[in-house]
Amino acid sequence: MFKRTISKKEPAKEEITKTASSFQLVRGVKDILPEDQAYFFWIFDKVRSLARSYGYDPIETPIMEKTNLFVRGVGKQTDIVEKEMFSFVDQGGDHLTLRPEGTAAIARAYIEHGMLALPQPVKFWYWGKMLRHERPQAGRLREFHQFGFESLGSDDAMIDAQIIFMTYKIIQELGLEVTIAINSIGSEECRTQYKKVLVDYFRTKRSELSDLAKKQLIKNPLRILDSKEENLLPIIAQAPQIFDYLNSASREHFLKVMDYLDELDVPVVLKPTLVRGLDYYNRTVFEIWTSDEESSRQSALGGGGRYDGLVEILGGRPTPAAGVAVGIERLVALLKEKEIKPPLDYQPDIFVAQLGEEAKRKSMLLFEQLRAADIKVAESLSKEGLKSQLEKADKLHVKYAIILGQKEILDGTVMLRDMENGIQEVIDINKIIPEIKKRLEKQLKIKAEQVQENKEVNTI
Ligand code: HAM
Repeated sequence: MFKRTISKKEPAKEEITKTASSFQLVRGVKDILPEDQAYFFWIFDKVRSLARSYGYDPIETPIMEKTNLFVRGVGKQTDIVEKEMFSFVDQGGDHLTLRPEGTAAIARAYIEHGMLALPQPVKFWYWGKMLRHERPQAGRLREFHQFGFESLGSDDAMIDAQIIFMTYKIIQELGLEVTIAINSIGSEECRTQYKKVLVDYFRTKRSELSDLAKKQLIKNPLRILDSKEENLLPIIAQAPQIFDYLNSASREHFLKVMDYLDELDVPVVLKPTLVRGLDYYNRTVFEIWTSDEESSRQSALGGGGRYDGLVEILGGRPTPAAGVAVGIERLVALLKEKEIKPPLDYQPDIFVAQLGEEAKRKSMLLFEQLRAADIKVAESLSKEGLKSQLEKADKLHVKYAIILGQKEILDGTVMLRDMENGIQEVIDINKIIPEIKKRLEKQLKIKAEQVQENKEVNTI
C-alpha cells in the first residue's frame, strides 16, 4: 500500500512559484498599474475641468443595482441584458446586477431624488467601473471604466450638440483625432413604421441572411443594420434608410443638431445604419471613432444619444434626456498606440537626503515643512547610502538636494547641493525654506525671460 509521508522539508522552489501563480487575475479584468494610472488621472482631470465649465455636476451611483433596473432600462432584448450582466441573488433574496452601464442608474437617481423639481436640465458627469460578461479580446474587457455626461430635462437639440462637442473636445485635447458617426432613429412611431419596411426588405433577402440575422429579423430588425458580418454588408447598404421615415419633428431636431455641430466645427459623418445596441435611445444616436483608418481599433471609443423615454419607463414623469459614455481603456490603448504620453503631473524641485539616524529623523520633519510651504519635494529616506539617494535625486531631475548629516545636525545647518553643477553650500537650517523659495523664484523668472526673448526672436 502506498504510504504517505509528511516531509518537513521546505517546499521546493517550483512549488512556491506554482502556489503563487495559482492566484491570477480573473479573466477579462485588469490591474491598473501606476503607468496606466497616469493616463487615467490625466483624462480624469480633463473631464472634470471641462464638465465644470459646462455646468455638469459630478454623480456616482452604486456599483450594484436591482437587476430589473437594467432589464427595463437597457432593454430585455439587448446583448447587455440577454448575455452580459453579472447578476446574482444576494443573501436576502434580492436580484442584483453589477452595473453594465451608467445611464439607467442615473435616470433612477434623478427620479429617486426628486430632481424633476430642480431647474432643468439637470446635468451630470461621471467616471467609474462598469462590468459586462463579454468575450474578452482587444478593447473588450469584463471590467472597464467609462466617463460620461448625462443631461436630463431638456429636448433642445443644443444639448445633443453640446454633449458631442464636449466629448470631442476632451479627446481632441488629449491629442487624438476622432470622427463622430451620427444618425437619428426618430421617435417610437417613426421606428414602428420603419421596422415594417425594413422587415419587408430583409424578407426578400432571407436566403442570404445568417441564422443570427434571421433571429434578429423577428426580435429586433434594427440590430441587423449594426451587423459586422461581411456578406451582409452589401445587403445592409441597399436597405431602406430611417431618415426617410422620420416625422417632421424628429427631422427638424436632427437637422438642428447637425447645424450646431457644423457651427462648432465637429467632424461628423452621417451613418444611416447606426442604431446602437441599447433600447432606450430615440432621435440622435452617435459613436466616436478614431479618424485613423490604419488604426487597429475595431470598436468605438464612445457612444451615446438621446433617451427621451427612459425616465418614464423607470416610473418617473416624461423627461427628455441625452448623454454619452466613453471607454477609458480604449482611449488609453489608442493614446499608447499613437505614442502620446500623459504630461508629468509632479516634478519635484528639491530632494531631501540624509546620513545617520539623527539626520533621518530631522529629515522627516524638514520634508514635511518643505511640503507644507508648497515646495515640490521628493525623498528616499529609507535608503542608507548618500550615493544611492543622490542617484535618485539625479533621476528625478530635481534642481537642488538638501543633505543632512551628523555634522549638520550638530551645527544646525544643512548642505544645499546644486544638482546641475554639484556646488554645495552650507546654510542655516532655519533659513533653508526662504532661501529655497528665493532661488526657485529666481529660476522661474530667468526661464520666463528666456521664453519672452525666444518669442521676440521668432517674431523678428
Ligand atoms: P456603450 O456604447 O455600451 O454605451 O458603451 C460606451 C463605451 O464604453 C464604448 O464605446 C466603449 O468605449 C466602452 N465599452 C463598452 N463595453 C466595453 C468593454 N466590454 N470593454 C471595454 N470598453 C467597453 C453606454 O454604455 C451608454 N450608457 C452610453 C450613453 C450614455 N448613452 C446615453 N448616455
